[in-house]
Amino acid sequence: MIKVGVIGATGYTGAELIKLVYNHPEAELSVLTSKTYDGHPISDVFPIFNNIVDIKCQNLDVDIISEQTNVVFLCLPHKISMKYVPQFHKNGVKVIDLSADYRFNSVESYESAYQEHTSKKLFKSSVYGLSEIYKSEIKNAEIIGNPGCYPTSLLLPMIPLVKEKIIDTNLIISDSKSGVSGAGRSPSLASHFCETNESFKPYKVGNHRHTPEMEEKLTENAGEEIKITFVPHLLPLTRGMLTTIYTNIIGKTTRDNIEDLFHNYYGKKYFIRILQKEHFPDILSAKNTNFCDIGFHLDKNSGRLIIVSAIDNLLKGAAGQAIQNMNIMFNLVEQTGLDKL
Ligand SMILES: NC(=O)c1ccc[n+]([C@@H]2O[C@H](COP(=O)([O-])OP(=O)(O)OC[C@H]3O[C@@H](n4cnc5c(N)ncnc54)[C@H](OP(=O)(O)O)[C@@H]3O)[C@@H](O)[C@H]2O)c1
Repeated sequence: MIKVGVIGATGYTGAELIKLVYNHPEAELSVLTSKTYDGHPISDVFPIFNNIVDIKCQNLDVDIISEQTNVVFLCLPHKISMKYVPQFHKNGVKVIDLSADYRFNSVESYESAYQEHTSKKLFKSSVYGLSEIYKSEIKNAEIIGNPGCYPTSLLLPMIPLVKEKIIDTNLIISDSKSGVSGAGRSPSLASHFCETNESFKPYKVGNHRHTPEMEEKLTENAGEEIKITFVPHLLPLTRGMLTTIYTNIIGKTTRDNIEDLFHNYYGKKYFIRILQKEHFPDILSAKNTNFCDIGFHLDKNSGRLIIVSAIDNLLKGAAGQAIQNMNIMFNLVEQTGLDKL
């Protein structure tokens, strides 16, 4: 059995990981941490775990936790993760970090969107955990920078298109919408019920910190510099994410070419569902699953390609993909523990 530590177990992604590990046939929950609830059973925080998971939360002591685990999932805010990742790594524990601290290749890109990185030595040895694209690197990784939710929803459909050079990389516009759990469990005015319920609004237009992450990975896969326009929106929903991307095709690409391309890339990838012609993803069908659903329309008149993807921000956008990465790292079938409804 793989012994798992969930570091920051009292947040939304932590709670999802507890459920996933509890149901995982090859892994067991060994450690749950919390600063605020040190010594309290996790069911004090999430009553859903009453009579099911009765583990007490403990403080974040890396040396003690390293004795008890083979892999830790860090569900901490960025800046906090980078304090602990080097210590777990030194103790030989595999790390899957859900924060942004180990997602980038370029220190400059990370620091432009976040803050000074205090563990640059390990920065380069981490692997970006977009499971379907970087599987062979993930297999041998010791530190995974698990992707952000918006980047997952954009990169999965866009990487095949930029790699095969069938779209105009000067024009990529992404209009994304997320449920409120994307902002984490700490209360804030922006995520307050009365501010979000029955409303719909864009936020951080033109300066969301996921933009450099998406640009870095698109650039790396395209072999040319790519800049995008990204506009996130807040949906009055608890969870789920829908991204609509607008771009132009180049040359004589047809709808069938694009469909073949997606099937070549993802036909054998369990967690990517390419929808039939004129069918489009919806949040309801992706919610509570680890799937990324992709549909698209090629407008013959304008040559514009419109792609829509849907994921659950807490699963394929966070905890689900993190478990998928653990499965790859431990040579398990990718969907182990993730294929139940
Ligand atoms: N929510 C999403 O949809 C989503 C998607 C992809 C990636 N992520 C990333 O995943 C990470 C976790 O997100 P989340 O939504 O689960 O956040 P969250 O609900 O706010 O939970 C954060 C957790 O971190 C702990 N924590 C906060 N400050 C800490 C500190 N100084 N030292 C130790 N522990 C601390 C909190 O616990 P205590 O106060 O109990 O210690 C809590 O368990 C973030 O980096 C986020 O950007 C989130």
